[in-house]
Amino acid sequence: MLIDNIGTLVTNDPEIGTVHGAALVFEGGIVTYAGPKRPGRLGDVEERFDAGGRAVIPGFVDSHGHLVFAGDRAEEFAARMAGKAYTAGGIKTTVAATRAASDDQLGANLDRLVNEALRSGTTTVETKSGYGLTVPDERRSLQVARPRTPETTFLGAHVVAPEYADDADGYVDLVKGEMLDACAPHARWIDVFCEDGAFDGEQTRAILTAGIAKGLTPRVHANQLRHGPGIQIAVELKAASADHCTHVTDADIDALANSDTVATLLPGAEFSTRATYPDARRLIDAGVTVALAADCNPGSSYTTNIPFCIAIAVREMHMTPDEAVWAATKGGAMALRRDDIGHLAPGARADAVLLEAPSHIHLAYRPGVPLVSAVWRDGTLVVPPAP
Ligand code: NIG
Ligand code: FE
Repeated sequence: MLIDNIGTLVTNDPEIGTVHGAALVFEGGIVTYAGPKRPGRLGDVEERFDAGGRAVIPGFVDSHGHLVFAGDRAEEFAARMAGKAYTAGGIKTTVAATRAASDDQLGANLDRLVNEALRSGTTTVETKSGYGLTVPDERRSLQVARPRTPETTFLGAHVVAPEYADDADGYVDLVKGEMLDACAPHARWIDVFCEDGAFDGEQTRAILTAGIAKGLTPRVHANQLRHGPGIQIAVELKAASADHCTHVTDADIDALANSDTVATLLPGAEFSTRATYPDARRLIDAGVTVALAADCNPGSSYTTNIPFCIAIAVREMHMTPDEAVWAATKGGAMALRRDDIGHLAPGARADAVLLEAPSHIHLAYRPGVPLVSAVWRDGTLVVPPAP
């Protein structure tokens, strides 16, 4: 497959860079050429697609989602917009709806969200459990997710289950014991919501350490609603990412900058909870690796739309368009410790997005406009170009 006549090709490859007047070739789902168009010298191509001067970028890698749930919380959102504060407590509403749903209903809702994300250019999603909070409900959440994405995260420690309201330590024991045993075979990652109203530093460390012993790699919901120990624990335990990072100190930034832990920023959450956005500029200028993700969930951020997050990141968080697109592609791949996605260089997976625009800058420059025209995943055209 040859995509020819590309106006701007974002490769995220340090050698190839961003190419104007480019071509992209892939074969068997793998990129074999990315670079300047070279008429007649691209070998045998079975299929040729003329991009007509439009931009091609790597598929978005959305490294943070809570996609296994039932119901919605539109009323809670409306109340919040009328002045009510967001708290972790709303999670329990979704827990009740999720427990009452069948596996088929959870799977259908997950498919709907994955397809919605795909249509806005997301070719890889991560999803957490965390709305079951019993051993069987956490396990089936991950079992429903596993066939749909390899990036599954055990989040039994989302909030303390309602049955354990007076016995948080008992719930922590359950999470790091029987629940972890049941869930670990279906997960790659383990996450904890380290926050007032959820889990404190000591509980977070204990749960993540138990997960590591079971072969899972940690990622942490850290410093979302106020400052806490989450980022320091993430770095200490060599987590793949510390997510949210909305309230950070110089010491937190220093710890992140001197680690392999990615700071995953989730501006959809600040948008939908009317909170102050994380200071991406301060993080990037200090040398922290930043990813952008949607945090799709029915409470704090009910969006799958990465272009929306990019537009906010540029306008409100002072990221450049280049940085924001990188963070939502290569940054997301780094947060998932994947080197096969998030870039378009020979050897990478052929996950590519054609924009209805001459460059990726338009993703922020034309906010709210559906610029994703076509999507290839694993070399297959999964969203055909708009007529
Ligand atoms: O990432 N912070 C914790 N979890 C979600 C919110 C979940 C919910 O409100 O249902 C988040 O924002
Ligand atoms: Fe989250």
